[in-house]
Amino acid sequence: MAETELLNKIDQAKIPNHIAIIMDGNGRWAKKLGHIRIFGHRQGVRTVKNVVETAAELGVKYLTLYAFSTENWSRPQAEVNALMELLVDSIRKETPSLMENSIKLEAIGDLENLPGNCNKTLKETINTTRNNNRMTLVLALNYSARWDLTRAMRNLATEACSGNIEPENITEKDIRKNLSTAAYPDPDLLIRTSGEYRISNFLLWEIAYSEIHITPVLWPDFETDDFYNAIIDYQKRERRFGKTSEQLIHS
Ligand code: FPP
Repeated sequence: MAETELLNKIDQAKIPNHIAIIMDGNGRWAKKLGHIRIFGHRQGVRTVKNVVETAAELGVKYLTLYAFSTENWSRPQAEVNALMELLVDSIRKETPSLMENSIKLEAIGDLENLPGNCNKTLKETINTTRNNNRMTLVLALNYSARWDLTRAMRNLATEACSGNIEPENITEKDIRKNLSTAAYPDPDLLIRTSGEYRISNFLLWEIAYSEIHITPVLWPDFETDDFYNAIIDYQKRERRFGKTSEQLIHS
């Protein structure tokens, strides 16, 4: 179906407020074409750019992208270096476009342990874009959900040991407040490309009630129509949050 036809099928009143994406398949895409993996990551950056712009146009308020997981350090050193370089270059190069589109850049993850230039560029762009308010783009970098949950538990344990909080009074709200995603609403829609049925240590706490859309399309091939289709799929779902359909009708 043509892009405009798909766009017409999207209910503008039901645009997901927060979309999170596991961008997968760069390596396989490159291999299929007989190239090295980094070629796929470079192409993946183009998809990132298009998805960010499309999300902002649709009125999505938060877009979280899984750009580098804690586990990704175990990839070949040359690929890790190339990915970091690509991240720094892309963030620097795209800062003017983030400003033009009023997109605020933020990041979650163990940022202090990223290479110095990556951390520096990231902080500069976060600072430059801090007053933008059309959409917040959150990059998950050196991130894993278990890392974040461990950090939150550690903070709460410290609070309990110092007598600031009673262990039996710890609530879900306290845990949420200590996650690096505390400032964002939970994702309404989680998209994963390349057909793998896995969560890969991404936002484990936050996706408790997210709708999941998995597409076989590899990330570098994920075009505007694929993004529209993900949103159309999401809009067909009935989000019950543990309630019955009847309860939803009468609420
Ligand atoms: C997964 O593909 C992709 C990544 C681990 C990195 C994603 C990074 C980018 C798209 C580039 C930079 C991003 C930004 C935000 C500027 P894979 O390598 O796991 O693919 P495979 O499963 O086919 O091997």
